[in-house]
Amino acid sequence: MSLANPTASNQVFSVAWAGDIDGHLRLIDQTLLPLQLKQLDLHSLDEVFEAIVMLRVRGAPAIGIAAAYGVVLGIQKCLTSAVSFEATRATTIEVCDYLATSRPTAVNLFWALDRMRAVVARSTSLASGADLAKSLLREARLIHDDDRRTCHAIGDFGAQLFDDNFGILTHCNTGGLATSEYGTALAAIFTAQDQGKNIHVYADETRPLLQGSRLTAWELQQRGIPCTVICDSMAAQVMREGRVQAVIVGADRITARGDTANKIGTYGLAVLAKFHNIPFYVAAPRSTFDLSIVSGNDIPIEQRKAEEIVHGFGKQTAPSGIGVYNPAFDVTPSELITAIVTERGIIAPVVEENVRFVVGG
Ligand code: MRU
Repeated sequence: MSLANPTASNQVFSVAWAGDIDGHLRLIDQTLLPLQLKQLDLHSLDEVFEAIVMLRVRGAPAIGIAAAYGVVLGIQKCLTSAVSFEATRATTIEVCDYLATSRPTAVNLFWALDRMRAVVARSTSLASGADLAKSLLREARLIHDDDRRTCHAIGDFGAQLFDDNFGILTHCNTGGLATSEYGTALAAIFTAQDQGKNIHVYADETRPLLQGSRLTAWELQQRGIPCTVICDSMAAQVMREGRVQAVIVGADRITARGDTANKIGTYGLAVLAKFHNIPFYVAAPRSTFDLSIVSGNDIPIEQRKAEEIVHGFGKQTAPSGIGVYNPAFDVTPSELITAIVTERGIIAPVVEENVRFVVGG
């Protein structure tokens, strides 16, 4: 079994729907990588909620897609003649509200759930709960398919930023695992490789949950792209040694002025890149933009359990009872971002007028 990859047979995807409206969600359990590539079959709303919270499915676009399919699972219990159409509509909204409480920062989750709510709003003339379920599954599939096209478009635009023999530093995981397939920031690297460019990736391990060393290094290895894993704290030294010609990361929420929330540690990298005069790029789809807010200070930052830091992967690494602060994301101000790569093109310089021009409307 191999992650979706044009050069591999027997491909699997981060997120997939199996069957029709009575079907189920199939996910790669990302917590098991890189040791096991295992798919989970989820048959209930609560299982989807748990998978999002526990980061079995993670990465802003993948969370949105999984949640959209989660809505379909959440209303399957209504697919009986005993449940009225109006009751099915009400349940759908309840299910959306519930899934919206799973993780707060990635706006793709709320964007996808809003699209599912809009299906309910449009559905007043429909005759049955089964019709509504079909429309909801159609919408979830559209969200999924749109993301596939989007990832490849981001890859095409992003690859233009890289020359042959570039060393590229990245943080967290932004590849096929974090999206429908292919990725955002990693898509730019995959496309550059397809164009014949020789790229060497430095993958921050990404404390505390190691999405960089567990997932990014694994995806790059699968594609035969040279990759060196570094501890997050080594980035300054690696830049100083001249090994990095560009930094590219993904995003969980980007405001109208371009302030960008991404995995904790991203802001520090942007500061380091500025000091070392290295371009700092963000790659993200339109669904990651939240044009309703301007300042990054208004982005909700997920706080996660202390155990992730002091009992990481089952080993206690700090004294019992010690205080811990565990924000999962930070915000990089737009002034530190050289350009944002979207499926509609490249935003540079990153100022509100340009952001609204490229992704607004
Ligand atoms: O907590 P995670 O692993 O969901 O955080 C993911 C990130 O920060 C990614 O960089 C972001 O979602 C972009 S994924 C294309």
